[in-house]
Amino acid sequence: MASKMKSLYVCQNCGYENPKWYGKCPQCGEWDTMQEELRVTDRSAAARASGVGGGARGVAQKISEIETVGEHRYHTGLSEFDRVLGGGIVKGSVVLLSGDPGIGKSTILLQICQTLGAEETVLYASGEESPHQIKLRADRLGVDTENLLVLCETDVEVITEQVNAKKPDIVMIDSIQTMTLSELSSSAGSITQVRECTNLLLRTAKQLDIPVIIVGHVNKDGNIAGPKVLEHIVDTVLYFEGEKNYSYRILRAAKNRFGSTNEIGVFEMMDQGLRQVENPSKMMLEGRPANSSGSCVACVMEGMRPILAEVQGLVTNTSFGNPRRMANGYDYNRLNVILAVLEKRGGYYFSNMDVYLNVIGGIKLFEPAADLSVALSLVSSLKEAVVPDDVLAFGEIGLAGEIRAVGFCEQRVREAIRLGFKKIIIPKDNLKNISKETMAEAEIIGVQYIAQAFHAAL
Ligand code: TYD
Ligand code: MG
Repeated sequence: MASKMKSLYVCQNCGYENPKWYGKCPQCGEWDTMQEELRVTDRSAAARASGVGGGARGVAQKISEIETVGEHRYHTGLSEFDRVLGGGIVKGSVVLLSGDPGIGKSTILLQICQTLGAEETVLYASGEESPHQIKLRADRLGVDTENLLVLCETDVEVITEQVNAKKPDIVMIDSIQTMTLSELSSSAGSITQVRECTNLLLRTAKQLDIPVIIVGHVNKDGNIAGPKVLEHIVDTVLYFEGEKNYSYRILRAAKNRFGSTNEIGVFEMMDQGLRQVENPSKMMLEGRPANSSGSCVACVMEGMRPILAEVQGLVTNTSFGNPRRMANGYDYNRLNVILAVLEKRGGYYFSNMDVYLNVIGGIKLFEPAADLSVALSLVSSLKEAVVPDDVLAFGEIGLAGEIRAVGFCEQRVREAIRLGFKKIIIPKDNLKNISKETMAEAEIIGVQYIAQAFHAAL
């Protein structure tokens, strides 16, 4: 292969090519735009290697004439993981599993090896840990399958050789930032290395019809290896998220060629690895103080799943000068908007008050549907009035103080009822979305303005 590849420096601004690197592009004069790229000189080899083929090459086909091939999916033993993938790992697909360092990517991969290893062989290539470290972790996770091959290597070509020799059913690469191609002079983790290594793995996956799971660390900007260089190359992109200080983790799909991106999986990090959480709402509401002011439960959608979370507000007199506002798990600017609406439309004055808002459990409420519970928790704290424990509210607050309809209303209400909430305050326009049976199970109140919501809840 080496003979057909050559490394070139290409200006990312104007496309100027040179075998040498320049700090300033000689053609367009831009600084620091030259990046190393690999060129396959034999074009037909490049086309073959891209592996997208399938039918006769270069001939357009009728869609009805293309054969349907039943996709084979491997089940990981973690149903939450399978669900996010759209029902398991598809043969020949490339999955990128990304997340902050230490979030549990290596742990979850090693864990699924146990179930996968019952019937398939798995090759786990690691450039981060020694065989000894991997063995220790496997022991801790109870992974003792005979069918797990461990390869500690950073050269992708060596890894693909091993894949060709050992013919495993599934390949895992931990992590792409440690992998290198010897033709490239740039260091491991650089954009060029990451992109070209992934391309090689992708070709191997498509040629041999083996799924490859690639671990990618997210850097400070929240991107995978600098710009999102990998996302368009791979078939599926999974994000593994969580707060360092909390044990739960959320797995979500940002892109999936074989399923929906609306599913999420919830896990909890335990001593023996990750445990699936089938009832996340219950977990989020654990340890909720009874009858205390400044607390209200919100219901937000995480993908297709409604999740309940407690919102706490604390409103105190400002001691010095400017009042403080703090939001944890909720958008700071949105908090200021809600405070302004409460002041102007509701007559609740926060101008000489410090306002602290906290969402329990480390979950982030990005959805406007959380507005109403935020407003309720703030007013509850301001007035020292308790929102009863069995009351839940959701709805978007408009600038006129109106409560606007939100999506997935029935699902949210059902989840609230399932967790024992008796009084559910929803936007009035959403009442028509609620079925008769659901209406009969709890007291469901439709509200149009914030004042009505406060009257109903406090
Ligand atoms: P790891 O999978 O190494 O993270 P990543 O590969 O995403 O960088 O996870 C490491 C963290 O998980 C580490 O902080 C310790 C914790 N952990 C547990 O709490 N329990 C366990 O059983 C394992 C294996 C790890
Ligand atoms: Mg790791």
